[in-house]
Amino acid sequence: MGLKDRLEADRRAERRSDLGSVAHWRERLLSEINLDDLAMLDMQQRRTRLEKVVGHLLSREGPVLSDRERGVLVRRVVDEALGLGVLEPLLEDESVTEIMVNGHDTIYIERNGKVELLDMGFASEDQLMQTIDRIVSQVNRRVDESSPMVDARLPSGERVNVIIPPLALTGPTITIRRFPKPFTLQKLVSLGSLDTDTAVLLASLVRSRFNVIVAGGTGTGKTTFLNALSGFVPNDERIITIEDSAELQLQQDHVIRLESRPPNMEGVGQVTIRDLVKNSLRMRPERIIVGEVRGAETLDMLQAMNTGHDGSLATVHANSAQDAVYRLLTLASMSEVKIPFEALRDQINAAIDVIVQLSRYPDGTRKVSEIGIVASERHEEFRLEHILRFDAQPPGPDRKVHGVHHRFPLPPHVAQRVIAAGESIPAVFGARSANGSSPA
Ligand SMILES: Nc1ncnc2c1ncn2[C@@H]1O[C@H](COP(=O)(O)OP(=O)(O)O)[C@@H](O)[C@H]1O
Ligand SMILES: [Mg+2]
Repeated sequence: MGLKDRLEADRRAERRSDLGSVAHWRERLLSEINLDDLAMLDMQQRRTRLEKVVGHLLSREGPVLSDRERGVLVRRVVDEALGLGVLEPLLEDESVTEIMVNGHDTIYIERNGKVELLDMGFASEDQLMQTIDRIVSQVNRRVDESSPMVDARLPSGERVNVIIPPLALTGPTITIRRFPKPFTLQKLVSLGSLDTDTAVLLASLVRSRFNVIVAGGTGTGKTTFLNALSGFVPNDERIITIEDSAELQLQQDHVIRLESRPPNMEGVGQVTIRDLVKNSLRMRPERIIVGEVRGAETLDMLQAMNTGHDGSLATVHANSAQDAVYRLLTLASMSEVKIPFEALRDQINAAIDVIVQLSRYPDGTRKVSEIGIVASERHEEFRLEHILRFDAQPPGPDRKVHGVHHRFPLPPHVAQRVIAAGESIPAVFGARSANGSSPA
């Protein structure tokens, strides 16, 4: 064995013994105190209390350590004992937006849009698995070989995904996404995603109870945009939001949030988006907001929109506004209720008013790339009238995507509806004011 190999082996041994000792002291700590007794204390008080106990234990039974070693060991033991172990301080740090655990000794975080590798880890794979168990048992799920993937939500709202070996070859993997403060439409304007006139128009459309679909690919900002649009729903309306994993953060007072549920360990108890959409109709909604339509619930949503629940909002995965309309058709046809194609098309023509298409550009920016009004009537082929198209120029030396938002007048029947609702239309979209004058 060469010198280098020997040093490496020494280092490994040292790490192993250190890891073992964290587990040992954690066990000692837990045998000295009852975690339930700490229930009345807040996180900081619990930590202080446990640190004191570990400190005593180390002085009484432990090896001689430098102050620094001792401090590190105490902190790690307490992290392990408290809830989510080393993840706790990361969860408390507001500037961390994503926590990614790739096996027990590799933790990445995202902070200010940058991903960094941390110089810390779980003491062992066992410790990591215990933490995972703690996370998923909070939502009555279990992770093991027979169900190696789980989505869950922490009590504080973060979304957690867990996937373990043998599916994850690099070890048990946790991805925690924290939801930052949602963007307002104003903020999206300042980010260059759309212009002020368009924002003013969209606000008018939402207030005038148009049914709006936000479309785009994965990560184009659909949920963000939906959330921003929902900000224009008047505060006195009863809003029901329906999502697979609750991400929307509405600011209104009268909001009921529904979240679907996967089957439990015995494979029963599943509640789908579709069940929730159906149920929501019996809850006297004034607005229904569906986080994302992915299947047969599309039909129920269309029917809701066509039976007096206008002003509804949803997102759909699509590559263009045109594609979005056809996607809705395909999704609606996934229902077991067999409805002729023409009838589904008519439902869409009648239900959907506006498609806002989002795109992500090579410089990472997200923009409104199209806004289409569904102009086709019953018994007609789909026809979209564009009121906005973003024309991107090839990136310049600054590698930023510049371009122009081309805007076109609203179709007259749309303009009339907005004006009838007492809302105004920015001049670039072809109408003058809210006092009843029709667009030029
Ligand atoms: N207009 C925007 N400008 C910059 N970043 C955005 C914009 N919209 C969304 N984001 C960011 O992009 C990521 C994905 O957004 P999200 O709304 O979840 O996308 P989707 O629902 O389409 O998958 C989030 O981190 C979000 O903060
Ligand atoms: Mg989304």
